[in-house]
Formats: sequence, C-alpha cells, structure tokens
Amino acid sequence: MKRLEGRIARILYSEEEIGRRVEELAARIGADYADRGFAKDPKGRPILLVGILRGALVFMSDLARRFRMPVEYDLISISSYANGTAPGAVRLVKDLERPIAGRDVLIVEDIIDTGLTIEYLKRSFAARNAASVRVCSLVDKTARREKPVSIDYVGFTLEEDAFVVGYGMDYAEMYRNLPFIGVLKPEFIG
Ligand code: PRP
Repeated sequence: MKRLEGRIARILYSEEEIGRRVEELAARIGADYADRGFAKDPKGRPILLVGILRGALVFMSDLARRFRMPVEYDLISISSYANGTAPGAVRLVKDLERPIAGRDVLIVEDIIDTGLTIEYLKRSFAARNAASVRVCSLVDKTARREKPVSIDYVGFTLEEDAFVVGYGMDYAEMYRNLPFIGVLKPEFIG
C-alpha cells in the first residue's frame, strides 16, 4: 500500500508542535488541579481521565504519560444517530467501567466539532454526580459548532472547516496512526 503521507494535502499541526502542546496542556492541567482547587472529590481520589473512543486514544495516551500527578483513566464510546430520525442525538455504545459519583472527571477529546458529543457527555456525567467535570480537547474546530460548549483546555483552535485526519482522527477508519494532523487531498475523500 502507498504511504499514507502521500494522501495529505498539508500538515496543520506537526508531530513536534503536537508534542509541545501536549506537554504544555499537561503542565497547565496539573497545576490547576494541584493549586487552584478544581479537584472536589471528597475522598481525594486521583482525577479520572475519560477518553472518548476511538479518536481520543492517541491523545489520551500521550497526555496521560505527561502528568506527574496520579491519574486514573477509563474509556467510553458514543455514536451519532445517522438515520435522520433523531437529528443531533447521540447514543451510548460502550459505557464507563465504574461509577463516577464523587470523582473529578477530565473528559479527553481529540476534536470537538458540532459540540453534540461533549454536550451529551457533560450532561450525562453531571447526572451521575461527578464531583467536577472538565473538558480537554486537542483540537477545537469552531466552524460547525451547534451547541455552545465550554472547553477548559484546548490544544489548537481550528477556524477553517477543514476535514482533518491523523493523531487519532480518521477518514473511513484510516489515518489514525499518522503522527501529525493534516488535511486530506480531495481525491481521497468520498
Ligand atoms: C469524533 C471525535 C469526537 C466527535 C466530535 O468522533 O472523536 O468524539 O467526533 O464531534 P461533535 O462535536 O460533532 O460531536 P467520531 O464520531 O468521528 O468517532 P471516532 O472517535 O471513533 O473517530
């Protein structure tokens, strides 16, 4: 098979840029939770990173390893309804392994686009009585936002409506393993 890189029109965020940003995010998050009292768990347990399958896997893996504080992690999978009967609705495909009542949850996303996924998750986690729920997304893509969501930690803000792949993000399940984030050449879309 041809090299995946050949299908990329341009690189938006290089491997080095992503590495630096992940390091910065981890430092800021670590300082916030340590010094500014965002951690509200009455039992003082480590923060719980919740990665959203499958796109967030690569980012969460790198982010988690940058923390010097103790963290735990879990994974959840949700999917958008695509049949048009419930526009904007999302459904739970795989739930968390354990209850999150009383926990300090940090949702980890690769990209926030319409905002529907994160809005659903924030509501769901609040209903489960998490002590605190914050959001970290590597990319905040603003062009197609439908739900106004507040994102506590953003790696990169993307204003153009580009279809991006790599570093966990796919097109038809490919390109997730690229170490950078880029825009696909149009001939490889559709
Ligand atoms: C992507 C991404 C987010 C979601 C964001 O996942 O990982 O979870 O879309 O989009 P939204 O803000 O419009 O809800 P996707 O459904 O493509 O699945 P994947 O993570 O398995 O690639």
